[in-house]
Amino acid sequence: MNLHPYCEPIAMLLGTWRGEGRGFYPTISDFTYTEEVVFGHVGKPFLTYSQRTWDPATEAPMHAETGFWRCAEQGTLEVLLVHPFGLAEVSTGRVEGETVSVSTIATVPVPSAKVVSEVTRTLTVGSGVLTYEISMAAVGEPLQAHLEGRLEKIG
Ligand code: HEM
Repeated sequence: MNLHPYCEPIAMLLGTWRGEGRGFYPTISDFTYTEEVVFGHVGKPFLTYSQRTWDPATEAPMHAETGFWRCAEQGTLEVLLVHPFGLAEVSTGRVEGETVSVSTIATVPVPSAKVVSEVTRTLTVGSGVLTYEISMAAVGEPLQAHLEGRLEKIG
């Protein structure tokens, strides 16, 4: 099945990626994680996306997220992600060369979720390596780094 032409600018994300990440925030202790990300497509103007993470020492599941990276014309992106801690993350952004940048236009929590008011993501792909940084404004703290990761393409 052919990739939808609108998604050509982010075709470099397709595949299965695995690697390590680090997390931090002023309200919590620093941590590390192992991560697997899968970007796929069904020929429509979006990429499917799923991510899962686990503790490198114990293999206990950590964060996971899933959703869709919609591709509009001219490298414009519309991203819908859901998190099992009770948040929907709705973002817009752009792809420029090897770098994808998105930021939230809305975050929608369930009543019991911790408050996250803003999320930004930057992903860069080069030579079979995907690196990313995710920042958030959450639990009363201003926008700042929560995660950085480096994944290698395994499939
Ligand atoms: C690789 C993905 C991620 C991992 C491994 C991860 C891991 C963690 C860990 C270990 C904590 C501290 C323990 C806890 O409260 O459960 C935490 C807290 C938190 N994370 Fe993440 N996280 C990830 C992605 C995200 C994303 C994408 C968001 C927002 C959209 C987010 C929002 C939060 C919030 C709001 C807290 C609570 C901070 C607090 O209680 O002060 N996390 N995360």
